[in-house]
Amino acid sequence: MRIILLGPPGVGKGTQAEKICEYFGFARISTGDMLRDNISRQTTLGLQAKQIMNSGELVSDEIILEIVRIRTQSDDCRVGCLFDGFPRTLPQAQALDDSPAAPDVVVDLDLDDDSIILRLCGRSVHPASGRVYHVTFSPPKIPGKDDITGEPLVRRDDDNEDTVRTRLEVFRLQTAPLKMHYSDAAEQGRVRFIGCDGGRKIEEITHQLIQEIQKLR
Ligand code: AP5
Repeated sequence: MRIILLGPPGVGKGTQAEKICEYFGFARISTGDMLRDNISRQTTLGLQAKQIMNSGELVSDEIILEIVRIRTQSDDCRVGCLFDGFPRTLPQAQALDDSPAAPDVVVDLDLDDDSIILRLCGRSVHPASGRVYHVTFSPPKIPGKDDITGEPLVRRDDDNEDTVRTRLEVFRLQTAPLKMHYSDAAEQGRVRFIGCDGGRKIEEITHQLIQEIQKLR
């Protein structure tokens, strides 16, 4: 099974991806995490992507499609995989639809802008694992430390209010049209489409998604 988590920045895609992948044993494919890994290793790709990501704009379709093509060929994708933050443009969605990794299920998470800003301005992350925390909504056991490894948590460079507003605008222009793309695909029976209110408690959303995915397996 291949699942897409669609939704604006900060809606909770990464939070839910971690829980769903742990429950079902799916591989998590987060294009944002892959790009940040390249930035920390100072690869050519990372050097190209850093400035674009910090401005809140999107990295080119060409780069993204190539890293996803390679990643989806890994053995750990055989049980299933979950795309977090991909696709983000119509060309990315069309390329995925036409590939051997075409999606079966699309989850559309939704949330208002004010809640998104509150979430992203209070977020900290454990870069090595991608685990996410929030100072109020999902605090680590020890402030500033990852629960599992005890390593320091960091704030992302793009989690400031100005950049978040740019990311929201980019989402509206380039990614929101994918909702229609996948609703149409669902009407034609090519994918299952699950709408999800991202404003509820983390556990409630996880419960809904696990139940619905379970039914479709
Ligand atoms: P990416 O890393 O994908 O970021 P994003 O889509 O902007 O999403 P976020 O990671 O910010 O949010 P999220 O929805 O995962 O929320 P989270 O679970 O962390 O992309 C970053 C950049 O990389 C892009 O801007 C672009 O430049 C580039 N990029 C990546 N993919 C690309 C692509 N395909 N094409 C082109 N460019 C690409 O939760 C947020 C906070 O809220 C956390 O603190 C969490 O604890 C808290 N929280 C979560 N759920 C709840 C809840 N239910 N209630 C209360 N708090 C909650």
